[in-house]
Amino acid sequence: METNLTQIHEVIEHHGTNREALVEILRDLSQQAGYLTPEALETVAAQLNLPAGEVHSVASFYSMINTRPCGEHVIRFCEDAPCHVAGGRAVWQALEQTLGIKFGETTPDNQWTLLPTSCLGLCAVGPVMMIDNDVYGNLTPEKIPEILARYTGGDA
Ligand code: FES
Repeated sequence: METNLTQIHEVIEHHGTNREALVEILRDLSQQAGYLTPEALETVAAQLNLPAGEVHSVASFYSMINTRPCGEHVIRFCEDAPCHVAGGRAVWQALEQTLGIKFGETTPDNQWTLLPTSCLGLCAVGPVMMIDNDVYGNLTPEKIPEILARYTGGDA
């Protein structure tokens, strides 16, 4: 799914057109659409009256802003402190090992994209991740293969 003009206008209206809002705007758009096309970045640049090159640089710098198409299923794993303290690091490693990719990457068969995200508002049941629109809490490394298999009919 790509960003569309309505989404861009809504997110900019929410955050305002100050330069300081740029990262939040790009992050929200990336989370909503999965990734940002060059055209979407240029539209944001025009709306905020910023050089397109600056917006492209910011988008490429932050891991939570995706500028490439995602796989069929997108995993967003919370990387904020409460989830980290609850054992997030081990789950993070289990995701990378099970899928054979690093965060920010997509599997070669385009099944999975693994992305970090900030707090999902469910810190009480951390570590937490979202797969597409499904939320999973109280994660442990042992649960990862079984959860992923639900989306692939048996193969993670
Ligand atoms: S810190 Fe992970 S859900 Fe809040």
